[in-house]
Amino acid sequence: FEQVLSRNPSEPPLVRYYVPFIGSMVEFGINPIEFIRKHQRQHGNFFTFLMFGRRMTVCVDIDGNDFVFNAKHACVTAEDAYNSLTKPVFGEGVVYDVPNAVLMEQKRMVKAGLSIENFREYIPIFVQEVNQYVDKHWTQGEGTVDLLQSISEMIILTASHTLLGPEIRSKMYEGVADLYHTLDSCFTPIHFLFEWLPLPSYYASDKAHAKLDQIFGAVIAERRKHRGEKHTDMLDALMESRYKTGELMSDKHIGNMLIALLMAGQHTSAATTTWTLLNLAARPDVVDEARSEVAARMGREIPAAADLPVPDYEDVKAFDVLDSAVRETLRIRSPLVQVMRKVVKPIAVPNTDYVIPAGNYLLASPIISATDEKYYAGAEDWVPSRWSGRDDDAEDKATTDYGFGATTTSARSPTLPFGAGRHRCIGEQFAYLQIKTILYVLLSRFEFSLDPKRGMPGRNFNSMVVLPEGPVLCRYKRRGSSAGAA
Ligand code: HEM
Repeated sequence: FEQVLSRNPSEPPLVRYYVPFIGSMVEFGINPIEFIRKHQRQHGNFFTFLMFGRRMTVCVDIDGNDFVFNAKHACVTAEDAYNSLTKPVFGEGVVYDVPNAVLMEQKRMVKAGLSIENFREYIPIFVQEVNQYVDKHWTQGEGTVDLLQSISEMIILTASHTLLGPEIRSKMYEGVADLYHTLDSCFTPIHFLFEWLPLPSYYASDKAHAKLDQIFGAVIAERRKHRGEKHTDMLDALMESRYKTGELMSDKHIGNMLIALLMAGQHTSAATTTWTLLNLAARPDVVDEARSEVAARMGREIPAAADLPVPDYEDVKAFDVLDSAVRETLRIRSPLVQVMRKVVKPIAVPNTDYVIPAGNYLLASPIISATDEKYYAGAEDWVPSRWSGRDDDAEDKATTDYGFGATTTSARSPTLPFGAGRHRCIGEQFAYLQIKTILYVLLSRFEFSLDPKRGMPGRNFNSMVVLPEGPVLCRYKRRGSSAGAA
């Protein structure tokens, strides 16, 4: 019983499906990238498929990315696509639970906590946290670890210490990590598809939010008592920022925003760091190059020990080999392979005859162009040297002011792991700094190799953020203190 949805000729082509209502959900869910590539070959860069009663219009390649990321807000919104999924996790009053103009103001406030001045303070904290972690958990001279698990813990410890502040970081093992975990468990495709179901996780998330409100509230109240003391973290930045109206953010919304930031960076950065390290583990030549560059930049050999020197902000920025390794990882293993919007008013697709009706979802997948042979020879191969000597200034810098100090918003690059336009990621620089510093410490202190039985893991598409398929086994070996260059 092959079915075809009734199609208005002005709408993009429809993917055939066999089971009413469910549509192409199963095929898409197994491997969304292969699904999109297959139908792109058949239908072109714009096509619609049915998924659990929703019409999803896929928009790919450079024109598709540009269309979704720069669509007029009057026609296409992120909040209508995401809020049912993110509200139980982030809580009320922030990000997609407010009108877009308010989100733009909130992003401006967040930018204040992501200043270069703050970044300078964050780097020693990253180094300290990673050192502490490996000294506590990787105690053998050599061994096998679940790399995704270890890196995820390093990401949450470094991010919570720098963004949420030392008070909340000190409570991580006193229940805060478990509360995050409860919220995080709502961030699954099931919660997107069954938004109308009273799932038990919603009840658990309400309880977790109530406890976190208390914890954040107490820390904020304590800081207010000691107003003169300056803290260089996101919490302080949000406590100081005001909306255009002159109003401060409420304590509850500060807490929710901090949760949102932590969650936005958690799996994305953990997956990126893990994939980068796995690829480095398979390429000792790139590791040697990275270590030589680091030693040259720091003007000394790096000891393979916890007292390794702390790089400054300019040093980390200048670690180009690590930069290229992360950039190349993001190209072929972008953690976000589906970016969604909802059409609220019919919208025409430029340079085509298509009009997409209200009610459809738009689905962009920039990884499709990022891994297209048309743009990158050997597109599926991890070749960090593609990015060496790249000139940031020569990149397309067309920007639009969305009110939060947008950086490059052009959506016409084939590689857009951080999105583009008004919803572009604000955490990119933080993520690069955090990931590169973690790699600096780990590569200075350890040798890594892939587990001979598991090799390079495949991709797990079951979560909203695409992760390496577990268990992500990786071998580490402590480098001798006489091991020479870092
Ligand atoms: C949005 C990717 C890390 C905060 C986004 C978007 C992408 C993305 C693709 C756009 C989503 C859309 O258009 O619907 C990534 C990747 C990361 C990363 C690949 C790490 C490697 C972070 C970090 C933070 C952060 C560390 C916070 C410190 C945000 C926020 C948004 C966002 C708040 C929502 C912006 C909006 O809708 O206006 N991110 N992100 N991200 N990111 Fe990131």
